Amino acid sequence: MTDTPDPLASFCTALPKAELHLHIEGSLEPEMMVALARRNRVAIPFRSVEEARAAYRFTDLQSFLDIYYAGADVLRTAEDFHDLAAAYFDRAAADGVTHAEIFFDPQTHTHRGVPFDAVVSGLLAAAGAAEAKHGMSVFLIMSYLRHLDEEDAFATLRMAEPWLGDLVGVGLDSSEVGNPPSKFARVFAASRDAGLKLCCHAGEEGPPDYVRQALDLIGIDRLDHGNRSLEDPVLVARLAREAVTLTVCPLSNVSLRNVDTLAVHPINRMLDLGLRATIHSDDPAYFGGYIAENFRATAQARGLSHGQLVTLARNSFLGSFLPDAAIARHLAALDAFAAGAAAATAT
Ligand code: HPA
Ligand code: ZN
Repeated sequence: MTDTPDPLASFCTALPKAELHLHIEGSLEPEMMVALARRNRVAIPFRSVEEARAAYRFTDLQSFLDIYYAGADVLRTAEDFHDLAAAYFDRAAADGVTHAEIFFDPQTHTHRGVPFDAVVSGLLAAAGAAEAKHGMSVFLIMSYLRHLDEEDAFATLRMAEPWLGDLVGVGLDSSEVGNPPSKFARVFAASRDAGLKLCCHAGEEGPPDYVRQALDLIGIDRLDHGNRSLEDPVLVARLAREAVTLTVCPLSNVSLRNVDTLAVHPINRMLDLGLRATIHSDDPAYFGGYIAENFRATAQARGLSHGQLVTLARNSFLGSFLPDAAIARHLAALDAFAAGAAAATAT
């Protein structure tokens, strides 16, 4: 028996796209978690790959973060970070990703005694190899943990000083409610002064006011998630007018119960409202799929057209931190892909 390829899956996989919302620690598959636990002689709360996977049922963001931080404990050496990222880049390339901007959480590691340099040097080695192997470009974004205080974020920025040329930007992640962007206004200003682009998770679980703070108090270059902006029409109009990119993560939204099911995911509404929305994978090892599966499952559940999928991919390049000439090259490749797919459908 031969498997008939699913045309929608093939389209979503081949569609050239940029990954803009991926936590590298969230790409730690249970198999690698168990292998690294063994290699580093670290105790983990799971006895097997199956037991780990069975624990991946979340009720909200915090219930996920508790498991995500526990899993990250197996990451100890530069080699571990290299292996983690190399596995992710192989998957991303197979998913049609031609440019990736990935988050990493330094404080998750430095607080356990893992040197900042081990984290970044391992990730950079894998990024360089992926550029050579897959022809994809890779940028790194250092994310501050918002459940910690601003002084800790400043200490992290100081640790990053020797590496500033290797980082494209900073982000803000972890427990959102009760930790608004305003708490980090000064460290984001210092990050901007250091030449870094600014991203914030906002409006994932937090209210529209957190999105407004990210715009007004931080001056973000890109908004991660942003779903709850939809509750505020004035904010939506502003996001559309200012062409703010929203990195939307549908499988994450369902896993963390921010959206009931994919069948009611607001991605079409976002596009209809003129928002520059894109689709990404967040923490794919935990949420049931990488970027192509996020595209495919959402397209199937919401009846997205090829045209809408191409728009989402276009938005991913427009929202990237690539130079304009590189964005133009990616958009030309995307247009060529779309024209080829349309011609194939017509025959
Ligand atoms: N939200 C906030 N913080 C995170 C996430 C997320 O989805 N994934 C990893 N850190
Ligand atoms: Zn995220």
